[in-house]
Amino acid sequence: MNNNIILYCRSGFEKECAAEITDKATQIGVYGYAKVKDNSGYVLFECYQATDADRLAKEIPFATLIFARQLVVVSNLLKDLPSNDRISPIVTVLQGVIERAGELRVEVPDTNESKELLKFCRKFTVPLRHALRQQKILLLKENHQRPVIHIFFIAAGCCYVGYSYAKNNSPFFMGIPRLKLPADAPSRSTLKLEEAFHLFIPYDEWEERLASGMKAVDLGACPGGWTYQLVKRSMMVDAVDNGPMAESLMQTGQVRHYRIDGFKFTPHTKNITWLVCDVVEKPAKVAALITDWLLKGWCREAIFNLKLPMKKRYQEVSHILHKISLTLIENGINAQIQAKQLYHDREEITVHVRRIWSASIPERD
Ligand SMILES: C[S@@+](CC[C@H](N)C(=O)[O-])C[C@H]1O[C@@H](n2cnc3c(N)ncnc32)[C@H](O)[C@@H]1O
Repeated sequence: MNNNIILYCRSGFEKECAAEITDKATQIGVYGYAKVKDNSGYVLFECYQATDADRLAKEIPFATLIFARQLVVVSNLLKDLPSNDRISPIVTVLQGVIERAGELRVEVPDTNESKELLKFCRKFTVPLRHALRQQKILLLKENHQRPVIHIFFIAAGCCYVGYSYAKNNSPFFMGIPRLKLPADAPSRSTLKLEEAFHLFIPYDEWEERLASGMKAVDLGACPGGWTYQLVKRSMMVDAVDNGPMAESLMQTGQVRHYRIDGFKFTPHTKNITWLVCDVVEKPAKVAALITDWLLKGWCREAIFNLKLPMKKRYQEVSHILHKISLTLIENGINAQIQAKQLYHDREEITVHVRRIWSASIPERD
């Protein structure tokens, strides 16, 4: 296996993804260079040292990557696969590199051009899976503890072959969670908050952390896509926005609508668990607002969007996240911070902050 990794990302964000992997690889002493093709939907990072690609897959916590949807250790590009036998060259690459893998994913970049290719991938998966099982490269039964084999087609007859580690990858095909828009949701952006829950909250903690009866505040709530997610989980929501909320949500009796500025709103109740915020504003301003809520102990967890700046997006975003972290630490608050450009995000990223403990008892108004 060669010394490269492929990172899947949103088409148009290859530069951000490249800046991020270069930075995070350097932080653990891995050096290399990123090859970027605009709007390709992926980045190739070539490591200078042998075995470093595998180190990246093991040592960079996947959850810390903002712009990458998936991280795969790969071979050199296989080109011109013969149409009468595409399987043998792939098997040859994998032999001796990986054995008893738990899953096979035949994938493509998330671009319009790749849509046709994806149809081929779906058909090709069946015979390839069979061949890999025969060679004991792939287990007979899916196993979510074992490495995942990725075949990443970038054109017809042309693919990267590689693997990711099940404990440090995206569990989703192409790194994209497939979510269905609920018919009664007031807006498409409901899927953003749902995706954020899937990504940031482990399933076995949903019952405890997204529990019925919890109190939540939604800043910039209208028409109510995010509030819908909270209401669906039987929470009581204070929705703050000058605009109109969907009548269906108001009728549930679980929502109070405040037509005021989210930056001036102060909570009316204690014990708010969730603060969510989808206000379109300068990212530094939104970050300062959320930090303030956490410092005052007004909420336990927050999910919010940061609109991406025009330039140096990765650097700017890192700077903002670092500032949130620093301010919380300086004030004796231990917090977990995660950030991702979700599949449903466009020119933005979504951030999750969870207060784990606070050194001092927050003052209440
Ligand atoms: C992207 S939309 C929110 C969509 C919502 N999350 C949903 O799922 O339906 C942004 C909202 O923020 C509101 N907004 C903008 N500035 C605000 C502010 N300072 N305070 C409160 N709401 C604000 C806008 O009125 C708009 O409804």
